[in-house]
Amino acid sequence: MKPITVKKIKKEYSRFVWQTNSNEIFTEEMTLFTLTSPGATYALAALESGHLAHVYFGKRADDEDLSYLLRLDENPYTPKVNERDMGTFMDTTPFEYPCHGIGDYREPAVMIMDGKGMSALDLRYVSHEIIPGKPLLSQKLEDCEICLPATFAENGEAETLAVTLEDKRTGLRVILYYTVFTELDVIARSVRIVNGGNEAVDIRRVMSACVDFDNDEYDFITLNGSWARERVMERCRLHHGKQGVDSVKGESSHQNNPFTALVSHTADEDMGEAYGFNLVYSGNFFAQAEVTQHKKTRFVMGINHFDFSWRLEPAAEFTAPEVIMVYSDQGIGKMSRTFHDLYRQHLIRGEYKDKRRPVLINNWEATYFGFDENKLIDIAKEASSLGIEMLVMDDGWFGHRDSDNSSLGDWFVYEKKLPGGLKKLADEVNKLGMKLGIWFEPEMISPDSELYKAHPDWAIQIKGLPMTQSRQQYVLDYSRKEVRDCIYGQMREILDNANIEYIKWDMNRQLTEVGSNALPPERQRELWHRYVLGVYDVMERLITDYPKLLLENCSGGGARFDPGMLFYSPQIWASDDTDAIERLKIQHGTSICYPASAMGAHVSDCPNHTVGRSTPFETRGNVAMVGTFGYELDVTRIPKEDREKIPGQIEMFKKYNPLIRTGDQYRIGNVFEDNMWDAWVFAAKDKSEAVFTFVQVLGRPNYRSRRIKLKGLAPEKMYKNHDSGEIHSGAALMNCGINVSLDGDFKSKVVYFSAVN
Ligand code: GLA
Repeated sequence: MKPITVKKIKKEYSRFVWQTNSNEIFTEEMTLFTLTSPGATYALAALESGHLAHVYFGKRADDEDLSYLLRLDENPYTPKVNERDMGTFMDTTPFEYPCHGIGDYREPAVMIMDGKGMSALDLRYVSHEIIPGKPLLSQKLEDCEICLPATFAENGEAETLAVTLEDKRTGLRVILYYTVFTELDVIARSVRIVNGGNEAVDIRRVMSACVDFDNDEYDFITLNGSWARERVMERCRLHHGKQGVDSVKGESSHQNNPFTALVSHTADEDMGEAYGFNLVYSGNFFAQAEVTQHKKTRFVMGINHFDFSWRLEPAAEFTAPEVIMVYSDQGIGKMSRTFHDLYRQHLIRGEYKDKRRPVLINNWEATYFGFDENKLIDIAKEASSLGIEMLVMDDGWFGHRDSDNSSLGDWFVYEKKLPGGLKKLADEVNKLGMKLGIWFEPEMISPDSELYKAHPDWAIQIKGLPMTQSRQQYVLDYSRKEVRDCIYGQMREILDNANIEYIKWDMNRQLTEVGSNALPPERQRELWHRYVLGVYDVMERLITDYPKLLLENCSGGGARFDPGMLFYSPQIWASDDTDAIERLKIQHGTSICYPASAMGAHVSDCPNHTVGRSTPFETRGNVAMVGTFGYELDVTRIPKEDREKIPGQIEMFKKYNPLIRTGDQYRIGNVFEDNMWDAWVFAAKDKSEAVFTFVQVLGRPNYRSRRIKLKGLAPEKMYKNHDSGEIHSGAALMNCGINVSLDGDFKSKVVYFSAVN
């Protein structure tokens, strides 16, 4: 099957009409669109009436005519002969992009307010187009055009269907994009709205995707948490009414991730159906599943419509961000691996896309704000002798910043701490054979800063309301180009004058009093989205101007761990919680849709600064290895026996990183279930090798040794266990398992397997 087929069909239907107690014969013409990926089919149909109906999403069904699923011979799904009860048709038919105000009382995908104060829309099919590859997404603003983060694909890797709908009354056109990837069970959807009318309208809601499922037999998976506890997986049964997650904080948030999945009740890691949805966006989002009166499920996802409005003048366009939809018929595990492959190949860009990242040491938990050049050089000297490759100087190197109470916005060096400036520090660090990276928080402004003295109006604010401080800082109005230019100009000055090879881009507070001193009243509610576009603009400039720079995103830990950010930075700091045991949950949840190659993970000191727990140094290393790997401790002060383990740990990281970065991840243990142990395998795509990690949370009487079944190997291949030296078939290792014996709490083990001839 081709990725996209279009078929025009005309069929004769017979429908029983109870008023006349007879059958009525009618014909219906439609255009059927069938999207086919290696294992999935997605089908939609433009009916003769112009309604765009959803036909099917699920396991691959090679058939260009799935129109029978629409049940046009049944009441109430027959628009043509349904004049007397269009309301029922509207409220029950599965739609691709449902409108508000014309009889569909389920969650709408789109809503407007026109110049006459009317909000209803009636979108009907106008035309379609098939585009090779995948078009870029961008948003035109008054003074620039900004690219939206999105997956990319060359011709041959994907094909895109664009379906245009129109509302005759207002002239509004909505173009729905569906990109099918030829190698992965992925459909990427986005939406563009064009005002083809003569009057301005306000977009009040624009979802990026809607899927009407034919039943409610699903569990709803979300990734929730709070600071230091991000992306903990939750699963619950769908029930009547609406259930969902969102963010209203201006970023994707610690509390809810822009990811959800609908999975069959019996689905586990290896079996069952799973539909994963992830919004490629870093601001306010909305994801909701609604079980309707007839036990069907409507799922919608997009920018949060809460406090959102976008003025669209005649001929202007609005681009909504992309939703990634993944289908798996082999459980949650396969769904995750598809996301991982997609993001590694079609979202993450740049120098480090396919490269191991340097092993870094970050001074945050080592010194907090209390450092100077000498302290950093001491750390760097010791670190370089142990094989660490990069020093990252965290918060506190600029303005006059000795605590979190000042200087954000003043991106020039704090001479008291770094007397010779950044160039001197970089040169010293480079002389030790290490790279230098630094921390920025470019979206923020401290009330105690030169920038604030000069431009108090640059902070997001509502005149007449007290400005809420959070961490003693305000948020800069990134909707304003002059603000972005000023901050980026300062960053360039730093980057052009010292050899900085890595940036940690932080964002440490959420938005309040969301108002801009530069926008007219009718555009104030655009600020949430314009802010995010502004952030994307500066990140794009940064990675374009400094293509070799490694960018790591961070937001008070992992509050902006989303695919939007992955488009700019190949890695994101997963959480401020560096405790190895807490990280089991955080990294497990994160891996549900994000690859290990993107997960910022470090070994830190004990007792852990967040939870006060002490864990063995080996376990801290074994858990951080399933990420970008680095250290976040004072290497000059940790116990000698820990320090001595660092070279061995780095050697192990380098050995296994290609497998962890590019291989297939299989989750085995579920630390959520009994809190006793966790385990995972990373297997090479060609099944030639695998690395298995086991972490025992708590020891238990009579459970000195456990039999653990591996995953991801080839059953017919023979594998050498490099721990025991034994050779066993993949079938034995997967069906019967291996014995893992560990004594004590928080212990862990890594075992490498290689195929033998
Ligand atoms: C945030 C980050 C930390 C650290 C501090 C510095 O909390 O998550 O890793 O960079 O800011 O202020």
